[in-house]
Amino acid sequence: MNIIQAKDYKEMGQIAAKKIMEQVNAKPESVLGLATGSTPEGLYEEIIQAHKDDNVSFKDVTTFNLDEYVGLDKDNHQSYYYYMHHLLFNHIDINGGQVNLPNGDALDLQEECNRYEKAIKQADGIDIQILGIGLNGHIGFNEPGTPFSMQTHIVDLDESTRQANARFFDSIDDVPLQAITMGIDTIMQSKQIILIVSGLQKAEALKQLVNGPVTEDFPASILQKHANVTIIADQDALSKL
Ligand code: GLP
Repeated sequence: MNIIQAKDYKEMGQIAAKKIMEQVNAKPESVLGLATGSTPEGLYEEIIQAHKDDNVSFKDVTTFNLDEYVGLDKDNHQSYYYYMHHLLFNHIDINGGQVNLPNGDALDLQEECNRYEKAIKQADGIDIQILGIGLNGHIGFNEPGTPFSMQTHIVDLDESTRQANARFFDSIDDVPLQAITMGIDTIMQSKQIILIVSGLQKAEALKQLVNGPVTEDFPASILQKHANVTIIADQDALSKL
């Protein structure tokens, strides 16, 4: 794993954005895997800036998001659909038809998982997958104990994950109980992975990811087995390494 130290959250986003721009400039029809949460917000700001200042075009880019809550419709401000449009897609020239998120409001959720997995394969896989990490080592919404062999699937969210994400909702009771997420196998098939990590509270998780055993009890540990992973982390997140 290649580890790049950023001095702070802003620089982490800048370094990650530079890598995305290089990818899109080299291959305008790139397939990008995108993440949500607080960590990538700065990265998306940098991408929007590069689109405006340097005319980087996303018109031929296809995106697949890692995950989506079950039961929130697209207009719900807590849905990842809303997050992505609000914080990125509405501000760049991406073609809406080439933007993909799991539909957590689908009538048949299992069918939706199958459709999503198939769509990624039909797009010829993901060139760069952006990842964050949960405090319990989750990537996407693959909670501890998820078999490494899983493809896109429905998950019951851990209580600790619901608590960690409650800050985005009015109350914890509003946090959905389930989500659809790309599986570990789906993520591992990405050609390149960029994991971004910021802050002291993630330092222990990052240490375990890099130095701990590869185990389904700590899903992010599987990244040790991927051939092309870059971790971009700020000093606080790297403080326990
Ligand atoms: C969320 C998302 C993950 C994200 C993680 C960390 O639950 N499903 O994709 O990486 O938790 O989020 P944050 O960046 O807000 O700490």
